[in-house]
Amino acid sequence: MNDIKQYQKLMRKCLSLAKKGEGKTSPNPLVGCVIFDDDFNIVSVGWHEKYGEFHAERNAILNYKGDLKGKNLIVNLEPCCHYGKTPPCTDIIIESGIKKVVVGMRDVNPIVAGKGIKQLQNSGIEVVEGVLENECKKLNEIFIKNQTEKKPFILIKSAVTLDGKIATKTNSSKWITGERARREVQRIRNLYDAILTSSNTVLSDNPSLTARIKGGKNPVRVVLDRHLKTSPSAKVYNDDGTKVFLFTSQKNNKKYPKNVCVKRVSEDKNGLDLNEIVSELWEEGIRSILVEAGGKLNGAFVKEGLADKLVLFVAPKILGDKKGKSFVEGFDIDDINNSQILDMVSVKRFEPDLMIEAGFKY
Ligand SMILES: NC(=O)c1ccc[n+]([C@@H]2O[C@H](COP(=O)([O-])OP(=O)(O)OC[C@H]3O[C@@H](n4cnc5c(N)ncnc54)[C@H](OP(=O)(O)O)[C@@H]3O)[C@@H](O)[C@H]2O)c1
Repeated sequence: MNDIKQYQKLMRKCLSLAKKGEGKTSPNPLVGCVIFDDDFNIVSVGWHEKYGEFHAERNAILNYKGDLKGKNLIVNLEPCCHYGKTPPCTDIIIESGIKKVVVGMRDVNPIVAGKGIKQLQNSGIEVVEGVLENECKKLNEIFIKNQTEKKPFILIKSAVTLDGKIATKTNSSKWITGERARREVQRIRNLYDAILTSSNTVLSDNPSLTARIKGGKNPVRVVLDRHLKTSPSAKVYNDDGTKVFLFTSQKNNKKYPKNVCVKRVSEDKNGLDLNEIVSELWEEGIRSILVEAGGKLNGAFVKEGLADKLVLFVAPKILGDKKGKSFVEGFDIDDINNSQILDMVSVKRFEPDLMIEAGFKY
């Protein structure tokens, strides 16, 4: 195996280590690190386990109980060179005597952005860049959007039949997909800071919107309900005391539980102002939003150019009824050339269903 292939193999290891921090590092990125010798044997590993705790490089270095002089380090994100919650990783790398650093992608955080690499090089450390760069960027798509646009990353997730329906005309939708797909949804929920839904979906499904996975956290919940039609006893407000933001255009005269924060925002004929809601959530520290709603709200997020990614679970079922609900509505397009375009990112199987991941292009 040549060096590049060896680096790629080790970078895959970094990416899988980084994923151990899923759901715990926000607003920080997911980072994994491997220390290896000149024969590409792994001598130590580390990852960023939780927000506020040590970074991956520091953990990998501290996990090694010997002399690191002459060893090599590989990491999916450029090492930081600034004091944040913890001291700069470049300092401990330089002090350790490591001679080569392999990096997946440069940090987009303007405080770092190439300066970490420069500092290592200025200390005589060889730096190799861009190993599995696309995979590294995909892993940290939320962090990249946050840093470059100062906005939350927004994912629309939906479960559909082969004819693109999310429910029958009588709103029956449980369950479209099988158990494996639903387990993957729980994993995705754990990755996001907030899950957002609508009055209609709360009224028809009464969902809990919890992430039922071992060691996982429940995301903040967000409900859009212009006229406060949803009942304070709905599961979404009561399940476990998790914070809920309830956006409305009305003055609140109902008694929602203490964990529910009612916020008034502007509206127009289509509904509440989604840009205002997204900005409010950013101000509340929400860095990623998972939209789990019906076609009207999904469609509105796409029309506003707010959605970044779509995850569509497709079940091998057909409803065959034109009155059944579609996962995205509100587009009045006559010419196929004016369709909303997406980039296919991946297709995976969660038997008996498929999962399609696609990025929005505006
Ligand atoms: N298969 C799946 O993955 C899945 C997931 C979720 C839901 N569902 C199904 O979807 C169905 C509900 O779909 P739906 O299309 O009727 O409703 P929806 O898209 O979930 O919600 C639409 C409602 O959201 C509120 N809203 C507030 N601001 C809005 C804005 N700017 N743009 C659009 N809507 C806004 C409005 O209600 P207010 O005027 O009351 O604010 C609007 O009527 C249910 O049957 C549910 O079971 C399926």
